[in-house]
Amino acid sequence: MRLVTAIDDVRRAIQAAKSSGATVAFVPTMGALHAGHLSLIERAHAEGSFVVVSIFVNPLQFNDHADLAAYPRDVEADVKMCRTAGVDLVWCPESEMIYPEGFETYVELGPLADVLEGLHRPGHFAGMATVVLKLLNVVAPDVACFGRKDLQQIAIVRRMVRDFNLPVRIIACRTVREEDGLALSSRNTKLSGEARAVATHLFRVIHQAARAIQSGERADEACELAIADLASRPGLDLEYLEVVDRDSLAPITHERLAEAVVVVAAVVGGVRLIDNIDVHAASEDPR
Ligand code: PAF
Repeated sequence: MRLVTAIDDVRRAIQAAKSSGATVAFVPTMGALHAGHLSLIERAHAEGSFVVVSIFVNPLQFNDHADLAAYPRDVEADVKMCRTAGVDLVWCPESEMIYPEGFETYVELGPLADVLEGLHRPGHFAGMATVVLKLLNVVAPDVACFGRKDLQQIAIVRRMVRDFNLPVRIIACRTVREEDGLALSSRNTKLSGEARAVATHLFRVIHQAARAIQSGERADEACELAIADLASRPGLDLEYLEVVDRDSLAPITHERLAEAVVVVAAVVGGVRLIDNIDVHAASEDPR
């Protein structure tokens, strides 16, 4: 495995891999790697023969300075995990390489970024899309793997790839969960014991709502019950819980359930968590 920092080194390594016939599979991350990232890397291995991981905590996608400062970082452990997972190239750029002095060009997004997370994290998706475009430009992968937990991120990245004619295939990878259903997230390490217990209600409630919808209950009614349940939990501040279309993110009330996803965001013990579940997959084992 090679560990590189400079953009030119990334380009050279990838050019060499491509000229020897490799298919490049890319996993962009912000570090603090966990089993969820390992499953993205595993998928990348299945999709390509040269796996690249980037580790960069992108300041542009944090609308809250305290959140950026508190974001977990352990690059040494991340690099070790990548080596064990058989990654070919790890790219850890410095902030000045991604945003050199005078940087002033940003991706401008449409209405997909104005709902759900976009309402609660102004500027987050423009920052995310800008860095993803830059990472894709440097790595020039054949495929790039993103976690399904960030449903809106994937919808926005797919739209950007389509709108900008980027020659990359975006792969949405399954959410990895703890035994009790909590979706793995780098932010989980910030949960206190008590908050960790409260956090399990998120998955339990959206899973229950998805199953109810799958067995014929109206989506808006299932949502109402789920919202009432979460709102009654001390230590949990619900931001939204909705049933939306996977691609357009438009609210769904009782039609087109094949594409319906129950999405949730809440702050638990000071930690902001998101999750989602496909209605059509609600009866499968979520792990
Ligand atoms: O999902 C993430 O970790 C980040 O949003 C990404 C895609 C690496 C961009 O910074």
